[in-house]
Amino acid sequence: MSRSVYVFDAYGTLLDVHSAVARYQDVIGPQAERLSELWRSKQLEYTWVRTLMGAYQDFAHLTEQALDYAAVRCGGVSAQTRADLLNAYQTLNAYSDAAPCLRELRQRGARTGILSNGTPAMLQAAISAAGLTDLFDAVISVDALGIYKTAPVVYEQACQRFAVPAAELVFISSNRWDVAGASRFGCHSIWINRNGLADEYADCPPQAIYKTLDGLLSTPN
Ligand code: 2OP
Repeated sequence: MSRSVYVFDAYGTLLDVHSAVARYQDVIGPQAERLSELWRSKQLEYTWVRTLMGAYQDFAHLTEQALDYAAVRCGGVSAQTRADLLNAYQTLNAYSDAAPCLRELRQRGARTGILSNGTPAMLQAAISAAGLTDLFDAVISVDALGIYKTAPVVYEQACQRFAVPAAELVFISSNRWDVAGASRFGCHSIWINRNGLADEYADCPPQAIYKTLDGLLSTPN
């Protein structure tokens, strides 16, 4: 292991964003998968649009607005299901490779962190529910900056927090657009391509691509 600071994206990388809807699949019915996909894509769209407009609202609010929009598009959900889904988003399932990977990296002497669009409260609730609380040296939210990924200042915040130059910080995300942002900023970026998606952002490539977080442990980064 040549680098010793590993900073992870949260949603989609450590936490399964689709696990909220999955818990209420039976109540929601055949539109469940579409609802979950739309919820996530609108949530992200809102972060980019608000960043471009310079009109920040925190990720908890955007998550709520995105769910409401997605629900309308999918025929509606009851007030109870809406509340259940928003609660579930606070306690998303961690991917099964997350805790073992973090533990092993730390065992090897690495420092680990999260860099996420999530609010500090959302992140604390989620990592606590997922049993990941003791596995990070720093949980960094964009909220203090009031701007979302992929603004360079977001990645800079992580480098400052760990006091390392960008090239020494390994940034790991399953979101290819996030990897592009970190790569453009100069981080050593790794794409966790969990779903076998086609590559994009050719001018902002990752230094490595793995299917799961286990890849981080088998190769020097
Ligand atoms: C994050 O955790 C939204 O997945 C993105 O920052």
